[in-house]
Amino acid sequence: MARRRRVYEGKAKVLYEGPEPGTLVQYFKDDATAFNNQKKAIITGKGVLNNRISEYLMLRLGEIGIPTHFIRRLNMREQLIREVEIIPIEVVVRNYAAGSLAKRFGLEEGSLLPRSIVEYYYKSDELGDPMVTEEHITAFGWATYQDIDEMLNLALRINDFLSGLFTGVGLRLVDFKVEFGRLWDEEDMRIVLADELSPDNMRLWDARTGERFDKDRFRLDLGNVQEGYAEIARRLGILPEAGVRDLRRSESLQ
Ligand code: TMP
Repeated sequence: MARRRRVYEGKAKVLYEGPEPGTLVQYFKDDATAFNNQKKAIITGKGVLNNRISEYLMLRLGEIGIPTHFIRRLNMREQLIREVEIIPIEVVVRNYAAGSLAKRFGLEEGSLLPRSIVEYYYKSDELGDPMVTEEHITAFGWATYQDIDEMLNLALRINDFLSGLFTGVGLRLVDFKVEFGRLWDEEDMRIVLADELSPDNMRLWDARTGERFDKDRFRLDLGNVQEGYAEIARRLGILPEAGVRDLRRSESLQ
């Protein structure tokens, strides 16, 4: 089979040319990286789980009117998406102290923040994604004040909805990162949720025990990374039918 043209390869995904103009195929790899690529591993089945989880969450967000790049899932590892111009800003929303915020301010991990805190990081592997303010974003022309407003609004709506959705299945949404893209329609521009929504980009703890099911299992060497991701999928009711152990086999059969 003639291979599609590869448009972009990131740390966890590959983008291929889509079947129609304005579309791309997003392929989820099993590669995991942390601390800006210093730590690397292959987590068998991660791509399959993230493809499912991201599909599910984007569809649910679409239902409440959040515009996304997602069109449909194509197979175990691929989804069809709209081609957007990625805004090079990572928007992080935090509900509880964890990770870099806990470290920076000496907060106990898991403590409830006085309110949700939104941060912006400039998406640059070479620079290690430095934290930036609206001043940097607008002065360097990465986005306008209006774009930032729109991203902030969407990020907070996403946070409200996902916090509730995860609470319903006994999970606590500690924090997450989202990326947005510009979607052009002639002269009109819309900002839509892009990239992915998966345990690679969010912290999800068991609401009762505090057990971590997300990428911190990899970052902190807690073990059983794939099982954590599968537990999230299981609670959402979307674990691939074949189950986790059989991911490789079911892929080769499709
Ligand atoms: P942090 O506490 O390490 O700053 O991470 C905050 C959230 O953002 C957490 O849910 C993980 C996610 N994140 C990414 O998706 N990509 C990144 O490169 C980093 C540093 C964090």
